[in-house]
Amino acid sequence: MKKKIAVFDTKTYDIESFKEYNDKYEFVYFKDRLTKNTVMLAKDCDAVICFVNDELDDDVLNSLASYNIHAVFLRCAGYNNVNLESAYKHKVHIARVPAYSPYAIAEHAMTLILALNRHIHKAYIRSRDFNFNLESLTGFDLHGKTIGIVGTGKIGRVMIDISKGFGLNVLCYDPYPIINSDYNYVSLDEIYEKCDIISLHAPLSNDTYHMINQDSINKMKKGVMLINTSRGGLIDSKALLEGLKNKQIASVGLDVYEEEANLFYHDNSFKIIDDDVLAILISMPNVLITSHQAYLTKEALSNIADTTINNMDEYFNDLFIQNELCYKCEKVKNKEECYRNRKTRCF
Ligand code: NAI
Repeated sequence: MKKKIAVFDTKTYDIESFKEYNDKYEFVYFKDRLTKNTVMLAKDCDAVICFVNDELDDDVLNSLASYNIHAVFLRCAGYNNVNLESAYKHKVHIARVPAYSPYAIAEHAMTLILALNRHIHKAYIRSRDFNFNLESLTGFDLHGKTIGIVGTGKIGRVMIDISKGFGLNVLCYDPYPIINSDYNYVSLDEIYEKCDIISLHAPLSNDTYHMINQDSINKMKKGVMLINTSRGGLIDSKALLEGLKNKQIASVGLDVYEEEANLFYHDNSFKIIDDDVLAILISMPNVLITSHQAYLTKEALSNIADTTINNMDEYFNDLFIQNELCYKCEKVKNKEECYRNRKTRCF
């Protein structure tokens, strides 16, 4: 019998990308995000597939375990929305898609830079109104300017390549720099001080939460462009707004926003938005916001589906789950102690 899988926060493109696996698994699609109020929808299923804004907190994981569901498959790389300690406590395996297309996200980050710099979002609206006036649309040459890449992982590295292609000088910051690379690593303060553009590619963690705050914004070069395609929590949105108002920050491109969970991926055009910071940000001519769409390419969707199915196959066939997120691995300093290094399951 086919295993029954509850898929949360789904859109038509998700259903399309999993379609070719309908012979293998029975997918039950829910538009709702997974929260403690919707978790009961998963009852009678064998596992759950989730996305970036699903809430995998202690309550939800406890409920899943009580329905005898012991596997959650994230169709994303980031896992800041998962309480790994609770997953371990309730014996729920968590697997993710560690990489699906770093190109998709880096290319989107560069798209935001180009659009903001040349005011494409404004020019497009003008042209639609047959307003061909060029006033206020002046940009700057990227060539010869300096970009700071914060986080030189898979996406950051593609962003470095793309930036070099534009003739940008690239400065990098990462607490775990790539040894023997030719990347120009500097301190975070130097990034703030010297860069005309800063692009964030670090994961959300206790260390990176609100790393862009009033203090760091004050250290930035006046007139900096800030790009965040990573996670909203990296930026203190109120401080960002202040930085824009006092012109320390010249422009901002956001694909993620710290309060995005109830807004992004949904049509809110007929609603009153109960988020004054977001409302003001969106009203600003020098702010460009997209709805966590950096990953949205055909290639990425197809890779996400393939890896998720592979993770599920490993789980249901009692094999070692290569992409399992292990609470112990995160905590244990001596990785040898971790079951994952013994190529067996975490529990
Ligand atoms: P990765 O794990 O390959 O690289 C992350 C890098 O950040 C690592 O080199 C790590 O050492 C570094 N890092 C860790 N702490 C840091 C800190 N305090 N300051 C600076 N760097 C730090 O991850 P990848 O694939 O490059 O993804 C980066 C992030 O992009 C993900 O964590 C996720 O939040 C976000 N993302 C966004 C998507 C979107 O659609 N907008 C899609 C996929 C990922």
